[in-house]
Amino acid sequence: MAETQSRLVAVSNRVGPLSDEGQAGGLVVGLSDALKRHGGLWFGWSGETSAEGTQSREKTEVQENVEMTTIDLTEEELKGFYLDYANRSLWPLLHYRLDLAEFDRASDRIYRNVNHRFAVRLMPHLREGDLVWVHDYHFFYMGSELRQAGYKGRLGYFLHIPFCSPEVFSALPASHDIVRAMLAYDLVGFQTERDRRNFVNFCTGELGGEELDEERLRVGDRTVITRAFPIGIDAEAYARFAVSPEAGEHEEMLRDISRRRGAPEGEEGGRKLIVGVDRMDYSKGLLERFYGFERLLEDYPENRGNAIFLQVAPLSRSEVDAYADLRHQLEHTAGHLNGRFATLDWTPLQMMTRGFTRKALAGIYRAARVCLVTPLRDGMNLVAKEFVAAQDPDDPGVLVLSRFAGALAELKGGCITVNPYNTDDVAAALQKGLTMPLEERKRRWQVMREAVFTGTAQHWCQTFLDRLEASHDEAGGTGGK
Ligand code: ADP
Ligand code: F6P
Repeated sequence: MAETQSRLVAVSNRVGPLSDEGQAGGLVVGLSDALKRHGGLWFGWSGETSAEGTQSREKTEVQENVEMTTIDLTEEELKGFYLDYANRSLWPLLHYRLDLAEFDRASDRIYRNVNHRFAVRLMPHLREGDLVWVHDYHFFYMGSELRQAGYKGRLGYFLHIPFCSPEVFSALPASHDIVRAMLAYDLVGFQTERDRRNFVNFCTGELGGEELDEERLRVGDRTVITRAFPIGIDAEAYARFAVSPEAGEHEEMLRDISRRRGAPEGEEGGRKLIVGVDRMDYSKGLLERFYGFERLLEDYPENRGNAIFLQVAPLSRSEVDAYADLRHQLEHTAGHLNGRFATLDWTPLQMMTRGFTRKALAGIYRAARVCLVTPLRDGMNLVAKEFVAAQDPDDPGVLVLSRFAGALAELKGGCITVNPYNTDDVAAALQKGLTMPLEERKRRWQVMREAVFTGTAQHWCQTFLDRLEASHDEAGGTGGK
């Protein structure tokens, strides 16, 4: 694959860090892994509010070959753009939770305006020959705003989360405006073929568009390229994290707490560890997962006293009611489960909200016999890929993966696939994972390892940029800035 020479300008709401400290969120992990290799400008929100908001002075930080430039939001912009429109309207809608989606015109207006302001602030940074790559549901209008501001160069977009079916998407009052705005990009990328198909079906069914071939889509006088580009991780680096001293300390700590009182070291003296690692988000199926674990203890009683479930769930978007409600439900359910099954020397379920470095997380994955990744809907899910990359080849753990995670397309040859809404199915998958013979674990892991080490973050970035380089003329762009 030819390395592209053009400068990459990435735009996303969250920017950095590039370090290995760790931050919960797949976009930052995938994009920073990719940008560390490629270099370029990364533009977005500073994570802070100020009276000037999107009119504030820029903050710039240079790390290695990446320049990170950010601006603030005002309190009003933060509420209307991020909390309300992005996370009360778009997020639940695109994750098929119409029951949680709220629509109002005030936040719609602020969302459009913030997209406009970010485009205006980015314009002076753009140079001829740049590849501009906009990310995620915070910036649907950014491309058309850049075009209106006079930008004529190559412009790509990638959606990190699912694109829901047209019947669901059409409930959004601005659904037509958003999809028309997305047509300003030359290339629109999705995590999976299913997401791409939903987008294309919306364009043909609602906007009178026409599919010209497998990739090209025409709506009115616009032709865009659409394609699936599954995001990945820096698998080599992650495998190295997993054998670092910091990972080793965490792995050892978990083996200690899993050891039965007075039992000797080694497998026979230990309890089996199940882990889950997710932002505390209703799309991740955490509550359903707790019910699945409870069913395991009910239906397969040999696990009582012998299995421990550790759920790492950093708080996310706590200002949004649905997230605060979820926290209460999870704490209540965990308390109920522990009250029902715990003994003096065994607490079945531990939930913690703290953050970990990427090395520490890798050690946690490595200590686990089973990793439960059971979202009700997920664009990709990088936790599934991290778990695979972190395993010990001589004694790998088992991945239990939801049929509704984008990662299933690549990992289905090795994981145990579950319907996260089916409690019995989750319990049976857990039992299968906890009792799976070593040879079968190795065989399944090898298949998944191949996929994770092939479909890396670098591969995702490079294939997108190669396609973007070529797409501009095909999509009817005019070239130059
Ligand atoms: P999403 O983007 O919806 O949050 P992903 O599974 O794609 O879901 O990405 C989550 C990322 O956040 C992973 O890289 C994971 O390691 C990271 N992460 C999750 N929990 C923590 C935590 N407690 N500390 C640090 N990183 C975390
Ligand atoms: O990957 C999905 C995503 O929504 C990213 O866009 C986002 O950065 C991340 O999850 C974490 O969410 P937030 O930025 O709202 O904290």
